[in-house]
Amino acid sequence: MCGIFGFTGRNSDPQTLMDGIRRLEYRGYDSWGVAINGSDQLEIHKATGRIAETLPETFQGASFRSGIAHTRWATHGAPTLDNAHPHTNQAGDLALVHNGIIENYKSLRSKLTKLGFAFRSETDSEVAIHLIQYFLDQGLSLKEAFLQTLNSIEGTYGLALISNHQPDRLLIGRLGSPMVIGQGEGFHVFASDPAAIIPFTRRVVYLEDGECAEVGPDQMNCFRLDHSIPVKQSQQLTFDLKAVELNGFEFFMEKEIYEQPQTITDCMRGRLCQGEGTVRLGGVDPSLLVQAKRIKILACGTSLHAGLIGKYMFEMLAGIPTEVNYAAEFRYAAPVIEPDTLVIAISQSGETADTLAGVREAQRRGAQAIGIVNAVGSSIARECGQGVFLHVGPEIGVASTKAFTSQVVVLCMLAIQASRLRGRMTLRDGLIYLDALRNLPELARQTLELGPAIALIAEQYKDADHFLYIGRLFEYPLALEGALKLKEISYIHAEGISAAELKHGPIALIDKDLPVVVLATQDKVLDKMISNVHEIKARGGRIISVVREGCDALDHLSEEVISIPPVLDVLTPILGAIPLQLLAYHIAAMRGCDVDRPRNLAKSVTVE
Ligand code: AGP
Repeated sequence: MCGIFGFTGRNSDPQTLMDGIRRLEYRGYDSWGVAINGSDQLEIHKATGRIAETLPETFQGASFRSGIAHTRWATHGAPTLDNAHPHTNQAGDLALVHNGIIENYKSLRSKLTKLGFAFRSETDSEVAIHLIQYFLDQGLSLKEAFLQTLNSIEGTYGLALISNHQPDRLLIGRLGSPMVIGQGEGFHVFASDPAAIIPFTRRVVYLEDGECAEVGPDQMNCFRLDHSIPVKQSQQLTFDLKAVELNGFEFFMEKEIYEQPQTITDCMRGRLCQGEGTVRLGGVDPSLLVQAKRIKILACGTSLHAGLIGKYMFEMLAGIPTEVNYAAEFRYAAPVIEPDTLVIAISQSGETADTLAGVREAQRRGAQAIGIVNAVGSSIARECGQGVFLHVGPEIGVASTKAFTSQVVVLCMLAIQASRLRGRMTLRDGLIYLDALRNLPELARQTLELGPAIALIAEQYKDADHFLYIGRLFEYPLALEGALKLKEISYIHAEGISAAELKHGPIALIDKDLPVVVLATQDKVLDKMISNVHEIKARGGRIISVVREGCDALDHLSEEVISIPPVLDVLTPILGAIPLQLLAYHIAAMRGCDVDRPRNLAKSVTVE
């Protein structure tokens, strides 16, 4: 959940470190800090709140050979100055930044305190720097002390250590939190996310769990906790820097909403086999889709909502029994994994701790797992070993938008391929589905033209205290997603329910102050949705209907009607998501919220 950045090179400018963590600020922004090896001691600056626009005075005119930086999302200890990273030893000649959770920090802290170590923070991370000092006091080298410390830690870490005694070397380690090293001429750079590395180099090495590296301006030595040496292959980063810049939009979320015609195109590129009425997903062994007797989907948040849509797709198109599990529940329950159970992990970041743990638990119980992931090289992608990348580029806004629609596209492609392989979908039907997929980007572009009209609706409803979203079948998970979008960026309480559940309790909420977003684009259940709207209307509810172009059945019952282009029911959540994203975005922006960095949230929940 935090962002780590480090750089080692001769006569380096501290601004490099500031720019580096600024590109990681979406991962957490409670507080931040920078440490460089200056002259006779480490020079450190820490602050609470957002990263300063200007270089702190401490670093004015300074240069460094090695430096680390950190932007924090609090897990243990409030966002205070003492709790901000880097954490230092008592002598002030060692500094460390950490991303992750040290589960056994209390016992380590108690032992170190008894040994006379003084703690300044409430964080779990601080135990690591004192543990390193403890091992140094036992006569170990810095590298050995670092290794012994990592071997003593239970939990997850992305760690970077700087020492004033060895200005040419930085030590980094990774277990459960991402760490990527960029390689350049006369420098090395590392970060929690490759987006922060791209301005310096595209040649990178991903650290795996349990791996460490000692890096200097001209050297990078990788090693494991057991001292064995891993063979590391350099990879080339392909996405471009502008993908992580605003390009004239006010917020990344707005930019990413409007990118969706392109990202849906990119997600399908090279995967639609038009003439054969099927798809080809290179990263998935087709036999898994043939043999699967059951599918278990694991995900969190928005990715789980995509999974709920995927469930309907696999069952309706391919006849494969499918269940969707909150990853955190799955990992602690007693999941039944039968032979030929296929697990599908859905994760934009590929680093969500609960989803990663769920994959490991499923594999431990004998399941094959495939990942539907956006971040190439991420933990979930690598540990699944196979799957489908979204190819939507970095998603910076904390509220997931373009990743969600492409997750649903990928799930639809998998369901079509499974159905065709199992002989449940004819060539003719396959061609119909592929045609519908191929037309999606244009229909998404048309739907985005609703932006100004939705902004006007947002203006009218931005001061509501509560919202209710209702839908059925494919639009039930969409109701959940619409509610999540609104609540997480505008802080308005919002709830999504199956419209069929209205009479089983939620209808008690209906009154003249409650806006109800009614998702009613599917012919199959339109009559039922109209009945729901009558029930709401009769109790004074304010109706915002999302319907299919040409459907006027709700015009006389709704305060607002949003019409989206007609599309196969199975694809309606993709188009239907767009007005809900826009509504949430405009309401949040009008309320003056920090749309890209909503309070209390971070882009990737890499801790439980
Ligand atoms: C979505 O808008 C939220 N930011 C959040 O629910 C997110 O979807 C969830 O944390 C899962 O993240 P992942 O897709 O990276 O695993």
